[in-house]
Amino acid sequence: MKKKKLKIKYVKVFSASLVLILGVLFIIKPKWTKESIDRIEYSNEAITIMKEKNILDEITKKKYSKTVEKMLESGKYEEKYFDDYTKINCPEKENFEDSINTFLNKNYTPEEINNIFEYLNDTNQKKLKEMEHVDLKDYVKISNLEVDKIERYETYRIEKNTNIQDAVTKVNIGLDLEFYSEIETIQDPDSYTVLLNKYRGLPENYVPLDLTPLSINKNYKLRSKAAEAYEQLQSAALLDNVKFFPFSAYRTKDYQTGLYTKYVGRDGKNAADTYSARPRHSEHELGLAVDIRSDGLNDNLTEEHYKWMLDNSYKYGFIVRYAKGTTPITGYIEEPWHLRYLGVDVATDVHNKGITFDEYYDLYLKNEK
Ligand code: DAL
Ligand code: ZN
Repeated sequence: MKKKKLKIKYVKVFSASLVLILGVLFIIKPKWTKESIDRIEYSNEAITIMKEKNILDEITKKKYSKTVEKMLESGKYEEKYFDDYTKINCPEKENFEDSINTFLNKNYTPEEINNIFEYLNDTNQKKLKEMEHVDLKDYVKISNLEVDKIERYETYRIEKNTNIQDAVTKVNIGLDLEFYSEIETIQDPDSYTVLLNKYRGLPENYVPLDLTPLSINKNYKLRSKAAEAYEQLQSAALLDNVKFFPFSAYRTKDYQTGLYTKYVGRDGKNAADTYSARPRHSEHELGLAVDIRSDGLNDNLTEEHYKWMLDNSYKYGFIVRYAKGTTPITGYIEEPWHLRYLGVDVATDVHNKGITFDEYYDLYLKNEK
């Protein structure tokens, strides 16, 4: 009996001690466990460097950070930025370590740096590294952003009382500047989706090489795909009783110069600029534009034919380039007769989005090229 009681007593003491020990371990142990786990997560290479720098204990007390690890491994680790590194998501990119230090040096916050890596393309990131710190605000998420134009966007946004997306697209087109005041020479004149307008001109000697006469009137030529599409457009329209003829297609630089000079002489430069492109700025010089007139009219479409073109021409790869309401962007009056070939895919997308080709190019094509 006595023996049994003694045994129970031992068991009790043993259990109590065990609970006590486990309790103490429970309080102390998590720290050890966490540290050792975090320490294990770092690569051996990083740990060796931490030891060399005498920062092993300090770093492994904190949560594991892949960015810290990569900074250490690359030899770019700067102690003063430790806290910032821990807040920066590790970019899946080659040689990001220098960029992180450069941006931190320019006083970008970890949050801004995360946005820069997530949203800005390589060109913008490169430009940003060469600039003084700029307040990226909500601009960072705008897909067609050009970081060196943020000041211009802000001025335009405030002046026009518009939103940032609109300001970015309009300023990228050039609309905060006078027409023809800053001209970029286009690098891809042979592209079927090249943008030509009052800010973008053709190289001086460009001549398209695949000009093809239109079967309805061999005096008029377009580049081969555009000529083929024109035939299809015309046949489809005829089926709907829409009969039209070309009255201008490809124009040489000299021809466009002659036309523009004639109009300036007749109406003055300001007026001529509203309906005629200056030489090297006309889509007719690309061999991708054709002016059409309805049967019975001299140089225009009937309302009915105009509507048909707006609703159907995209199916054959054409858009009405200077449609109603586009003057503030294109700088030209409404021209129902002027069709621009873009190919079916792009013409369809421009049609569906209901925007000018100038805007479309900036939003969807520029960065693809
Ligand atoms: N009339 C159009 C704008 C041109 O001259 O190309
Ligand atoms: Zn035209």
